[in-house]
Amino acid sequence: MNKKELSTNAAGNVSLGGEISVHRLGFGAMRLTGEGIWGPPKDRKGALAVLRRAVELGINFIDTADSYGPYISEELIAEALFPYPAGLVIATKGGWNRPGPNQWAHDATPSHLRKAVEGSLKRLRLDRIDVYQLHIPDPVVSFEASVETLAQLRNEGKIRLVGLSNVAQEHIERAHKIVPIVSVQNRYSFADREWDYVVAYCERNAIAFIPWFPLGAGRVAGEVLCRIPQAYRASPTQVALAWLLQRSPIMLPIPGTSSIEHLEQNVAAASIRLSKEEYEELSGVPELVGSR
Ligand SMILES: NC(=O)c1ccc[n+]([C@@H]2O[C@H](COP(=O)([O-])OP(=O)(O)OC[C@H]3O[C@@H](n4cnc5c(N)ncnc54)[C@H](OP(=O)(O)O)[C@@H]3O)[C@@H](O)[C@H]2O)c1
Repeated sequence: MNKKELSTNAAGNVSLGGEISVHRLGFGAMRLTGEGIWGPPKDRKGALAVLRRAVELGINFIDTADSYGPYISEELIAEALFPYPAGLVIATKGGWNRPGPNQWAHDATPSHLRKAVEGSLKRLRLDRIDVYQLHIPDPVVSFEASVETLAQLRNEGKIRLVGLSNVAQEHIERAHKIVPIVSVQNRYSFADREWDYVVAYCERNAIAFIPWFPLGAGRVAGEVLCRIPQAYRASPTQVALAWLLQRSPIMLPIPGTSSIEHLEQNVAAASIRLSKEEYEELSGVPELVGSR
């Protein structure tokens, strides 16, 4: 890949609620924290450099959450990038806490979400969060109560746009009765297609779909991924990202990395166009997995 191709411009744009347009390849800031998404990174300077390089390469959508670290990911973003360049969108989340390494605890109660938004505003040094996502529905809290809280915070000017994460179509429809939903963030890749129908729903309703864990997993996926890249002198990761970008114009991948080298590889994937046959071969991987 030459320097000319090293920009997210090649991915095109996606609209968030008809209000903000961002390049269709973002950055996931979860991996900048310590091991187990817990505590500070081993290489703090390196983490700050990755964030700055991401913006230099044209990335203008950064995904984070209060629970990454906890708090560390948001603090690093502010330290690296504040005052933020015009057009940079930081999408954070709340409602799923990190009480220890590799542990999760639900809390999407209205009182917690209010506190969480205030905390994110402070750490990110913002007056208003461009995109605030409910991290996951809380099984013991009314989903409507969680979403209504985000709608109120939006009316108060603390949130600009509301997104959801780890949801089914039914949640999006219920939430949409309360507040416009601009993005949905679920686990998704060429080899992991549980949420295909949600991607289709988002496409019909002009909602951005943000796939997390976008690189695919498993032996069959790995075999196909290792064969296709040879034609492009690309890495398997780049091919997995290229598939996502071709899957739908509302797709907004946010590959996460703590390495500048990997970041540059991921951005270069925006310039890869898979042939129809390659795209379809990758699309068929879930069936291959199922038949073995
Ligand atoms: N909503 C949710 O519930 C949820 C859950 C998980 C994640 N997320 C978001 O989604 C983002 C992405 O998800 P993810 O981090 O789980 O998965 P991912 O982006 O699919 O994978 C990240 C892993 O892949 C490695 N990697 C990245 N680029 C690479 C490259 N070019 N070559 C080789 N290895 C590479 C990274 O290691 P190195 O650091 O060594 O590059 C890291 O271990 C997160 O940062 C977070 O913002 C959301």
